[in-house]
Amino acid sequence: MLEEVALAAGGERWESAREMMITDDRLVLKRPLDMHLHLRDGEMLELVAVESARQFAGAVIMPNLVPPVTTLEMLRAYEARILAACGKWGAGFRPLMTMFFKDYSEAELEAARPYLFAVKLYPHGVTTNSESGIHSVRAAEPVLRRMEALGIPLLVHGETGGFVMDREVEFLPVYEWLATTFPRLRIVMEHITTAAAVAMLDRYENLHATVTPHHLVITLDDVAGGLLQPHLFCKPIAKRPEDRDALLAAALAAHPKLMMGSDSAPHPRHAKESCGCAAGVWSAPVLLPRLAELFERHGALGRLQAFVSDNAVRVHGLEVPDREVVLERKPWVVPARWEGPGGDPCVVPWEAGRELAWRVAGE
Ligand code: NCD
Ligand code: ZN
Repeated sequence: MLEEVALAAGGERWESAREMMITDDRLVLKRPLDMHLHLRDGEMLELVAVESARQFAGAVIMPNLVPPVTTLEMLRAYEARILAACGKWGAGFRPLMTMFFKDYSEAELEAARPYLFAVKLYPHGVTTNSESGIHSVRAAEPVLRRMEALGIPLLVHGETGGFVMDREVEFLPVYEWLATTFPRLRIVMEHITTAAAVAMLDRYENLHATVTPHHLVITLDDVAGGLLQPHLFCKPIAKRPEDRDALLAAALAAHPKLMMGSDSAPHPRHAKESCGCAAGVWSAPVLLPRLAELFERHGALGRLQAFVSDNAVRVHGLEVPDREVVLERKPWVVPARWEGPGGDPCVVPWEAGRELAWRVAGE
């Protein structure tokens, strides 16, 4: 299986190694993309948006606001608020907007299409703000047919309501049903966390996946094996070492159907460090430096370009600002928290307090 992944990624690997400029202390990435990002709204958006905009040429923006993004008007207004919050970085950052899955008519989808990157499907109640998620995927068939006909991709939070460690694997038959029932629908399994999901990528041509940097690094042990670590608690929950290893092998091999999607999901510190911890890891400030460190440690730095950009550009035929992001080898310690004016909101990043070897240049 791993050999297959390496072989499949071979052509891409050389291409991206040629395209990427790597020296001992500088690394230039072309139009890096975050294919799964939560930016929230209001003061939180103001605090966190710039962290993504300074590192990425674009990002797929999740629609699970309260209420969720379900109309073209909401989508356009949210996009404008995002760009305003990005400040000077907005010019080089393209929000790829999504709408929350519901029973959209053909006219609604058609009108939204020029501004819409994809529709995001959540099963009911499986994660933050998914109360209006669907109860039956089969009942969603008419909308999925319309999306297939219009060429609108489907992004899926693939978890059942079962035992927490089994939720993704239990959902895999639904992916199989989607992939075979809608053969021309481009489907993305979001934030995969299991070896079984990696294996599915090679079985269905129209099935793709995103994976988060933190799921390439942590297992359930890091979340709950010692003292409970609320800032590593997210949905889907981190799994077993063999799952993490399969995800990492596919990412390091630049599996051509796997894309970096951070699932960076900020929650206020009081909602994380509390009884009833909210699910979500806020990884945005450290993404590219942390990935450079990980890929370098495994001798795979030449494949980072494909993982953080080329695969997504090819899979989706994306047009995004042609921007270069430079990383330099200058160690820094990740701050303990980010705070808005007067200390509110306050968010704790992934890897808070840890020294990272690479940093985004120009800071
Ligand atoms: C996300 C959030 O907070 O919006 N949480 C998470 O644990 N990943 C929602 C999601 O993507 O599941
Ligand atoms: Zn998410």
